[in-house]
Amino acid sequence: MERKWWQNAIAYQIYPRSFYDSNGDGVGDIRGIIEKLDYLQDLGIDVVWICPVYQSPMDDNGYDISDYYKIDPQFGTNEDMDELIAEAKKRGIKIVMDLVLNHCSDEHPWFKKALADPTCEEADYFFFRKGENGNPPNNWRSMFGGSAWEPVGDGRYYMHIFGKKQPDLNWENPKLRKALYDMINYWLDKGVGGFRIDAIIHIKKDPTLASRAPEADGMCGLVECCRNYPGIGEFLTEMREQTFDRADCMTVAEAPGVPYEQYGDYVGQPGYFSMMFDFTYTEIYAGWASSWKGYKKIGEWTVPEFRDMLFRSQTEIQKVGWGAVYLENHDYPRSLDKYIPDEDHGFASATMLATLYFLLRGTPFIYQGQELGMSNCPWDSVEEFNDISTLNQYQLVQREGCTPEEALKVVGKYSRDNARTPFPWNSGKNAGFTTGKPWLKVNPSYVAINAEDEKKRDDSVYAYYKKLVALRKDPATSGPLGYGTITPCLLDYDDVVAYIRSEDGQNILVVNHFGSGVRKVTLPYDVQQVLLTNYPATNIAGGVLTLQPYQSVVAQIG
Ligand code: GLC
Repeated sequence: MERKWWQNAIAYQIYPRSFYDSNGDGVGDIRGIIEKLDYLQDLGIDVVWICPVYQSPMDDNGYDISDYYKIDPQFGTNEDMDELIAEAKKRGIKIVMDLVLNHCSDEHPWFKKALADPTCEEADYFFFRKGENGNPPNNWRSMFGGSAWEPVGDGRYYMHIFGKKQPDLNWENPKLRKALYDMINYWLDKGVGGFRIDAIIHIKKDPTLASRAPEADGMCGLVECCRNYPGIGEFLTEMREQTFDRADCMTVAEAPGVPYEQYGDYVGQPGYFSMMFDFTYTEIYAGWASSWKGYKKIGEWTVPEFRDMLFRSQTEIQKVGWGAVYLENHDYPRSLDKYIPDEDHGFASATMLATLYFLLRGTPFIYQGQELGMSNCPWDSVEEFNDISTLNQYQLVQREGCTPEEALKVVGKYSRDNARTPFPWNSGKNAGFTTGKPWLKVNPSYVAINAEDEKKRDDSVYAYYKKLVALRKDPATSGPLGYGTITPCLLDYDDVVAYIRSEDGQNILVVNHFGSGVRKVTLPYDVQQVLLTNYPATNIAGGVLTLQPYQSVVAQIG
């Protein structure tokens, strides 16, 4: 495979509202990111993906864009963005912007025009259809709950597969596509390093817009209607040719549901994108289920199930191209809460999860706060939530028979807001995030879990992440841990997730104990040197490795 700069990069995801507030209005901003670039450089980051900062009514916190060319005043100005790109560049960091191309905001001028005049050109930039007998045009269910259609009062409905204020864009219209490509090129010309591409898998809809077999609520999910729908490749190829191909940029797609047989089209040589996120193993708990009954608690899935999904993903992607590896993002609860029982949260489990995913084959993404070992936030009342999908689900689960108390509990556990709480910079007021009133609750764990403290200690989760970054960058190990191949191993142990990374005859074994007891593993390898472990010592005697609870061991083997 041809080698690219982004294959050896370490990426970091910033949720800008919650990263650092430079002007005391309670909301994080671009100048706040500039102020914290040294922190990212210290951690060893090469690429920073910033969730949307474009002008937006913020109904879905920036994933509803009303002007693709303008930075939202809450986040700063276009000049701030220029400065961020330049300041990051000085530190060897590239800025990756979020591209939201499946939908815009209902406050975008295109949509306003389309509402005012059904015959105008922009009306065809969207999906407007007549309803039938007072019903929506079809029975598709929105991802955020309820019908995917909203009436506009003149007999027409428009399609929104996410929130009501996020009308879907009609990619069949060539003028619309051209307008989007022009916008992408505008940002490329500004010097961004690439894009994370939101919800791109949905841009092609079944052209008949036919209803599907109804589920209990009379509606149907969108998988068959507009996820990786045949013909999407033509749009994606055209987009790549007219935009990304002009620059040596990195593109990472949010594209759940692509079967592995088609990964070559998406991330092959060339693919539509540099890499994409695979949602299988990160959604083992089924976080996007339309019903709360769809959530699986820890214990309702097993480590071997998780491991099978993870290794299937790794070995399938290895056949054709490159992947993005991650455990957390702004749409998930914290990884400790997804994968580890509450009573076991701590340094060992946080660093075991870190080792497990960070040395996989692919570009690793750290989500802000993950490098500190953050857990979910305790939620005391529904008023504390901000996220549109959490609020929708809170209503939904009560309609399904939950009491308000139960609803708060179940929704709180899986809420996206868990990942969106302000970043804990220190143990001072508001965790050092803002001098004003934070837009979202600060996770009370900041007293113990914060960047200032962790940076000082060499036994912190942060310090451990730096060691992982160093291993990936050290010329002595970066070969196998970068471009190298992956081979799953030690599959007989149900609480072990282990693999070997190899290049040019050099082999690195990564063993992760996904359990709270003590586990003995007979190693069929000759261990030459232990490179890293999250315990004070590694116990290997007579070819047997004795692993402590959630211990990880990385070793050079013969
Ligand atoms: C993606 C984003 C999510 C957003 C949705 C709609 O899934 O990651 O945060 O709500 O798209 O744009």
